[in-house]
Amino acid sequence: MIVGIDIGGSTTDAVILENGRIHVVTIEANDPIAAAAGALGKLAADFGLKLDDIERVAATGAGARALGGTLFGRPVLKVDEFTAIGIGGTSLARKDQALVVSLGTGTAIVSVRPDKIVHVGGTGIGGGTLLGLAKHMLGVVTIERLEEMAGKGDLRRVDLTVRDIAGGPIGDLPANTTAANFGKVAADATPEDKALAIMNMIVESIGVLAIASARASNQEDIVLTGKLSRLFKFMQDAKHRDFPFGRRFLIPEHADYATAIGAARTAQKE
Ligand SMILES: Nc1ncnc2c1ncn2[C@@H]1O[C@H](COP(=O)(O)OP(=O)(O)O)[C@@H](O)[C@H]1O
Ligand SMILES: [Mg+2]
Repeated sequence: MIVGIDIGGSTTDAVILENGRIHVVTIEANDPIAAAAGALGKLAADFGLKLDDIERVAATGAGARALGGTLFGRPVLKVDEFTAIGIGGTSLARKDQALVVSLGTGTAIVSVRPDKIVHVGGTGIGGGTLLGLAKHMLGVVTIERLEEMAGKGDLRRVDLTVRDIAGGPIGDLPANTTAANFGKVAADATPEDKALAIMNMIVESIGVLAIASARASNQEDIVLTGKLSRLFKFMQDAKHRDFPFGRRFLIPEHADYATAIGAARTAQKE
């Protein structure tokens, strides 16, 4: 059995792939070795994983470099993070090519073709930005609380739209397009409005970059992975028909753990 581990900036995910079934655990730990050891321990506790059953540990993510050649005596294979992102996203979405956008603490964008995987870009706007701005502007430190507030927010008191400046559409830009995030913070804007506007700014920044990257790398499908992919679902529900990124963005099942799954699948192939 192969265990895939993604030691990320915020969380460490570990997966076991067993006859088409996927078992996952997620833990938070600052030290990468403690995180990897803890993740294996949790797989043992939750799913009865035994050390002897582990053929290899496929490790990826920023913390993987801290691991040695073995973990609890089991061999460790280091998998390139962009490869793990690409293989994880495309395999979960059942595509042989796609643009995979990993929405974690930060954002990485990978173009996958049957013959090659290329890191095409990314942005420092990501999940860390969401939590940092929420803490700085609102004193809010959990996603749950932020979502609760955003559910009562109204973007019209914070974001400047094309309609605000032009009275209607500009060329092919619909009137409700954002002209400037936070470009119109009203005197009566509430913390709830700002919570929604922070989320909206992050989703729009990443969404626009993803579409431009898909165009530049000639990809039709855009697959979202990482825990911040849930923010796209949240904004889609909040904005309904006004959500501009609905159709082209796929969020496959297990998207939260895609990179760990990609590490395990890459090791399986080798
Ligand atoms: N329930 C949630 N809804 C939306 N975003 C979330 C949720 N839980 C965590 N996040 C965001 O996901 C980010 C971490 O994503 P993750 O895929 O674990 O990244 P990494 O691999 O960098 O550790 C956090 O910075 C946080 O903003
Ligand atoms: Mg991760």
